[in-house]
Amino acid sequence: MSYTFSREAYERRVAWYTKARFGMFIHWGLYAIPARGEWVRSIERIPSEEYEPYMAEFDPRHCDMGAWMDAAKAAGMQYVVMTAKHHDGFCLFDSAYTDFKSTNSPAGRDFVREYLEAARARDLRAGLYFSLIDWRHPDYPHYGDLHHPMRDNPACGNEGRDFNRYLEYLHNQVRELCTNYGKLDLLWFDFSYGDLRGEAWKGSELVDMVRSLQPEVIIDNRLEVSGEGFGSLAACRPAPYHGDFVSPEQIIPPNGLRDVEGRPLVWESCVTMNNHWGYCATDHDYKPAPMLIKKLVECVSKGGNLLLNVGPDAQGRFPEESRQILAEIGRWMDRNGESIYGCGPAGLDKPEYGRLTRKGDRLYCHIYENSIGPLPLYGLRREQVCSIRRLADGSQVPLSTSWVHSDYPDMVFADLGPSPVLPDPVDTVLEIRLSSDN
Ligand code: GLC
Repeated sequence: MSYTFSREAYERRVAWYTKARFGMFIHWGLYAIPARGEWVRSIERIPSEEYEPYMAEFDPRHCDMGAWMDAAKAAGMQYVVMTAKHHDGFCLFDSAYTDFKSTNSPAGRDFVREYLEAARARDLRAGLYFSLIDWRHPDYPHYGDLHHPMRDNPACGNEGRDFNRYLEYLHNQVRELCTNYGKLDLLWFDFSYGDLRGEAWKGSELVDMVRSLQPEVIIDNRLEVSGEGFGSLAACRPAPYHGDFVSPEQIIPPNGLRDVEGRPLVWESCVTMNNHWGYCATDHDYKPAPMLIKKLVECVSKGGNLLLNVGPDAQGRFPEESRQILAEIGRWMDRNGESIYGCGPAGLDKPEYGRLTRKGDRLYCHIYENSIGPLPLYGLRREQVCSIRRLADGSQVPLSTSWVHSDYPDMVFADLGPSPVLPDPVDTVLEIRLSSDN
């Protein structure tokens, strides 16, 4: 049966997501024990017999999903996506199709269930990351694969490996997650490469099953592509397994994203706080909170979301650096979240002092550096400006009547007062209410 894309149903499905703008990604699993990132098996070509024993010690007694979700909520995040299974094949949920799972570890816990319950209890939208790749499964390609830990080992040939049997396993586990854990808001599949994309995953059958069980769930584009590539929706030829959003990785699209017909695309930049998705004990190259606040503003100003990652350690704790960054972002979001949630591009040129976001008749000026003299409000006419308020405290900001800009009568300037120091050293936000008839 050919697939008929409904733009109306699609736009209804993604409405909450494009309003949410800011989410938390959580990469967690056995790889937190070697603590060298989630690709450690592939990069170091670790054989199963060396990796699987980690399960026998996996007992993150300090894992408090309520505390994790509290941290996401306090940071101003509206949704969370946590790994149910990463490329190593270890399941953080009680799958009937494998023994390689957290309920068989000393933890004895279904962390996916705990996570989903904790997120929902805090009115956070909750999604699951699910790896299409499974380096542990015997029917997944080994020797000669692009990424498998045993890709260079001729003793791990592919004779007898039945990829259809692997796909049955993959589909069964997705069905478990879509059946046994309540309403899922988002499924984050990862990732397609080489010939393994689309129908190679039996993508149409998979998405039909997902949508039959979770009709409102939104799905990323990685049944088709990876962090590179856009997918069939961008090409205006939506396949049955098309992603609902494009998932640029460790980059913010320089000019936002549009489909081939010029329609704005839904997209989400997924970004690590340091340089690893999974916990890496030696990676202390964390992005400062002020930088991440400005990256969130940048995503929204270009019409996208930011999915910011945390890699908890093997004890079940967020790294201290991550906790501090989340808390600082939360303090800014607490005062300025209205300039993020439900906002998008302003339809005006980026100002030299910072960035713009917009929601209806509210224009938000994000000021990163102060001007000499009154602040020029580029692209606005006097009659358009109904009011200007500092968003953080609601205080009035007058239009400037100073002589210093009398040579620019067609421009509008805001009077930020005598201090050269901006009230918020990271991003001082003005909320400008625009007249509806100009
Ligand atoms: C890449 C990495 C994977 C990570 C994902 C997050 O696909 O392979 O480890 O989970 O990016 O976007």
